[in-house]
Amino acid sequence: MTEVHALRGVDLTVMPGELVAVMGPSGSGKSTLLTLAGGLDAPTSGQVFVEGRDLARLSRGELAATRRRSIGYVFQDYNLIPALTAAENIALPRELDGHPLRKARREAMESLEELGLTAVANRFPDEMSGGQQQRVAIARALVGDRRLVLADEPTGALDSQTGEAVLALLRARCDAGAAGVMVTHEPRYAAWADRVVYLRDGTMVDQTLTARGSGSATDRSATSIRADAAAAAVRADDPAVRADGPAVRADGPAVRADDPAVRADDPAVRADRPVGPHAADRPSPHAADWPSPRRTAP
Ligand SMILES: Nc1ncnc2c1ncn2[C@@H]1O[C@H](COP(=O)(O)OP(=O)(O)OP(=O)(O)O)[C@@H](O)[C@H]1O
Ligand SMILES: [Mg+2]
Repeated sequence: MTEVHALRGVDLTVMPGELVAVMGPSGSGKSTLLTLAGGLDAPTSGQVFVEGRDLARLSRGELAATRRRSIGYVFQDYNLIPALTAAENIALPRELDGHPLRKARREAMESLEELGLTAVANRFPDEMSGGQQQRVAIARALVGDRRLVLADEPTGALDSQTGEAVLALLRARCDAGAAGVMVTHEPRYAAWADRVVYLRDGTMVDQTLTARGSGSATDRSATSIRADAAAAAVRADDPAVRADGPAVRADGPAVRADDPAVRADDPAVRADRPVGPHAADRPSPHAADWPSPRRTAP
C-alpha cells in the first residue's frame, strides 16, 4: 500500500483552560490530528496523552469510556444519528454512560437551549438545516463535563452571528477548565483561541499566540499529541473503526462507527448488554432493528 503521510512529527500540547485553533490548507492533516487526539485512531508512531493518560495504554473499554465521558467531538460532517431526534442525539452518550434517562433528557434540553435550538429538539437530523445539525453536534460535544473538546470546523455551516455565539460557548467552556482544539479556516474565529497552530502537508509549520494567549507551561493534566500518522494507519482497515464509515451500515447499527459516543466496539452498545437502566424503553441497540421503530412517519 502506498503510504500517504497524513501527519509528520506533530507535537502539540493543550492545557486545561486553553483553546487552540488549528489552521491549514485542505488535506494538511487537521482532521487527522483531531482523530488522534480523540482516540478514534492510533498514531503510526508517537504517543497521545489525554489528561495525562497515554491512550495506547488504555483497554478498549477504558478508551471507549474516555471518549464518551471526557472527550467531546464535533465532527466535520456532524455525524448525528439519523434515527434519533436532536434531543436524543445529545442525550445518548449520557445515557450510555449510565445517567438516568430523565437527567440525560433535561441536560440535552438545556444544551439545546444554550445553542438556541429548543424548537428543533424533536426533529430528526434530515428535518433540520445544515446549521441546525451542526449546532446539535456541538451541543452533543459540550453536554456533561467534557474535559477535552475537539471541534472540526464547528462553524462551517453557520452564519457569522451564530458562529460567534458558538465560539463564545466554546471559549466559556475552556475558561471553565476544559482543553479545546478547534479546526477553522476563519481568522475571526481563530482569534477566540489562545494559540493558533498552522499545519501544512502534515507538519506543524508555525505557532502563534493570539492576544488572549499566555503561553503557559505544561502540566500533567495536559492533552498532548506527539505523533506521526501514515494515512494507512489513520484510516484503520476494520470498518468498525473507520473514521469515514457510512452513517448507516447495511449490516450494522444505525450509529456511526466513529462516533465517540457510540463506537461499535463500546461495550455499552454491544447487543449482549443492556443500555443503561432504560434498556427496555428503547429499541434494541442490535443492528438492523434499531432505526425503524424509533422513527415515526413524517
Ligand atoms: N480515507 C483516507 N484514505 C487515505 N488518505 C486519506 C483519507 N482521508 C484523508 N486522507 C489523507 O490524509 C491527509 C490529511 O487529511 P485530513 O482529512 O486530515 O485533512 P484536513 O486538513 O482535515 O483537510 P480539510 O480541510 O479538507 O478537511 C490528506 O493527504 C488526505 O488525502
Ligand atoms: Mg478536515
